[in-house]
Amino acid sequence: MKAHSGEVGVFVRIRPTANFSPDLIECLPDGQTVNVHQRKDPKKPQDTKRDQLVYWSFRLDGVLRDVSQEEVYARVCQRVVLGALDGYNGTLMCFGQTGAGKTYTMTGSTESYKQRGVIPRALQEVFREVEKRTAHFFSVHLSYLEIYNETLVDLLSSLQSSPRSSPRGMVVTEEPGRGVFIRGLSLHPVHSEEEALNLLFEGGLNQMIGSHALNRNSSRSHSIFTLHIESRSRTLCDDKYVTSKLNLVDLAGSERVGKTGSAGQIFKEAMYINKSLSFLEQAILALADRRRDHVPFRQTKLTHALKDSLGGNCNTVLVANIYGEAAQIEETLSTLRFASRMKCVRTNPAVNECSSPEAQIKKLKKEVKMLKEELSICNKLANRPSSMLSEAQLAEINSQVQRYLAGTLEEISIVSIRQVQAVFAQFKLAVQKPEEKGKSPISQTYNSEKDQSAKTAGTKVVLHVEEWGSVEDGSFEASTASQKNTQRPSSAKTKKSKDKPSQSKRPEEASPVSRKGSESGSEPKLNSVQMAEESLEPDTESADTQSQAPANEPFHLDSTRPKAEAFEDFKVGPGSKINSILKENKSVLLERRSLLRQISEEVNAVKREIDRFTASMQQQRETRGKSGRYEGQYVATEEEPGPTSLMQLKELKVLYRQRYQVLREIKAEVNYCQHLVDQCRMRLLTEFENWCEQSFLVSEDV
Ligand SMILES: Nc1ncnc2c1ncn2[C@@H]1O[C@H](COP(=O)(O)OP(=O)(O)O)[C@@H](O)[C@H]1O
Ligand SMILES: [Mg+2]
Repeated sequence: MKAHSGEVGVFVRIRPTANFSPDLIECLPDGQTVNVHQRKDPKKPQDTKRDQLVYWSFRLDGVLRDVSQEEVYARVCQRVVLGALDGYNGTLMCFGQTGAGKTYTMTGSTESYKQRGVIPRALQEVFREVEKRTAHFFSVHLSYLEIYNETLVDLLSSLQSSPRSSPRGMVVTEEPGRGVFIRGLSLHPVHSEEEALNLLFEGGLNQMIGSHALNRNSSRSHSIFTLHIESRSRTLCDDKYVTSKLNLVDLAGSERVGKTGSAGQIFKEAMYINKSLSFLEQAILALADRRRDHVPFRQTKLTHALKDSLGGNCNTVLVANIYGEAAQIEETLSTLRFASRMKCVRTNPAVNECSSPEAQIKKLKKEVKMLKEELSICNKLANRPSSMLSEAQLAEINSQVQRYLAGTLEEISIVSIRQVQAVFAQFKLAVQKPEEKGKSPISQTYNSEKDQSAKTAGTKVVLHVEEWGSVEDGSFEASTASQKNTQRPSSAKTKKSKDKPSQSKRPEEASPVSRKGSESGSEPKLNSVQMAEESLEPDTESADTQSQAPANEPFHLDSTRPKAEAFEDFKVGPGSKINSILKENKSVLLERRSLLRQISEEVNAVKREIDRFTASMQQQRETRGKSGRYEGQYVATEEEPGPTSLMQLKELKVLYRQRYQVLREIKAEVNYCQHLVDQCRMRLLTEFENWCEQSFLVSEDV
């Protein structure tokens, strides 16, 4: 047989007997076929039909007659054992009537070493292989289960070291990833053949004691001796490991209840055995029938416990033990029929590869971290808020809500679920705050903003006049700046902006170099670049300082005076770090802006040159139209643009496009720097507000 083929291996083992009946049982020389001749039933001489059914032929994987225990192991069990070491589940089952040699095949003679059965041989092979396979680390556990009258009995529960034995009894359980297992059945770690054999004897002894004490015959129970093998590579340091189960099953005698002619307990036992074996047969029939989806495994404890050991991904082998005597021919036939059905079951052996949960958690954590980082990069690139809102974003949301409540912001655009949640949280706070705080300085600020909102909207100049759409409505402006503006209506800056309402326009409105055009990457039109006067003023610092540090300005409202001073204190104290970052960002912004102004001037200069050229060419054309034509003849004038002028114009256009491209790049940089400045500013303000709030609460408590 091929290793791990898709067939159940089925063998017949004929128990040696002095009364072997060669007339009835014929073993063909191919070593695989056994023919059975059934004599006419003397009780029913009139049944001629039965007389016709006297000849049966069974072709299996091997007929084992007068074969040594060693050969049986080699032919029947060895490949299943080796498969289990490679990670394939394996099952070897002995089926047949009582006394046919199942236990002899499975456990063998306890007196003679030579006649030991497949279980001790399998244990020997496993530990020899474990020694040999040095590249892997193996761990082997044993369990020994008996099923008697549909009751599960742990044959190794008497051992002191039975860690998983449950006093509440056992139950067949299925779990995804773990398959079928018996909850409550003790599993015993074994490190040598000797340890494992001890457990086999211990289990056998317990079975015997149980059968005496409870007056039950061990041949009326099923026993399942299982090796649970786990192997991990010593060389590869991955989280993968391989597990397998090797079930060595000694089934109860398969004789029919009618035959035993028994009553009472023995009848009950026979009923249970018949039931479990007939369900085993049904399960096997269902497994063999490929059209059937459902296999009734759960009908008995035996089939349920063997659910993943009969077909599926398991190497399964059946030994059908038979008598060769004429008196047992009916049972022999029944056993051989069962064997031939089993032969039809297809299997699909596969290695059980698992990942250790700890290693998997570690791996998944790493993956989550990586994905988060990736998401944050994507969000940054797409200019989206990241999934976790930063302090600056929260401050911005806070500011939007404040402005919305004050009536200076028409609507709050929805960006993400988190942002919506944060908006609602801010609304809640805004509703709760005035109630809780009463006359706190912060709520005064908020109220004063609210009262002055109409004016504020009209005097929001400081940040609106900045060029290139860099700052729209800074969070600071929503609180302190607006306050300042409304409190200093006569300040020079406010006046200036009022006098020049057109300059408060957004750059895309004010400048022909529209934001839209630059964003869409469309070909630039040959326009001059207009820059708002204020945009080029290197006064970001002062504007911010003015707006953010009211202490520098005379304050008319006494109530806000302490806050302005507090802000100054904050900037040199707890907020010094963020303030210095803000300053640094501003200086970079300033530098970029000055470069932007320089490039704008260059672009405009080129544009003026192009305009000049175009105008002069136009003029020449007109002049030519009036005087250059003479009686149908074309006469070139001296001023007419020659090829050189056209070349110059082309070069100018190329230059213009180049400079324009640079301009766009610098503009993007300015926008980015502005964004950083805004963020820092918002953070400074938020931290200041928090600081104020805390200080205020403390002083209130005192
Ligand atoms: N192949 C065999 N060679 C020698 N003795 C055997 C063989 N098969 C069974 N026996 C003997 O027959 C008896 C009954 O066998 P056993 O394995 O207990 O049957 P079962 O477990 O099927 O009820 C035992 O004494 C056993 O030693
Ligand atoms: Mg037995």
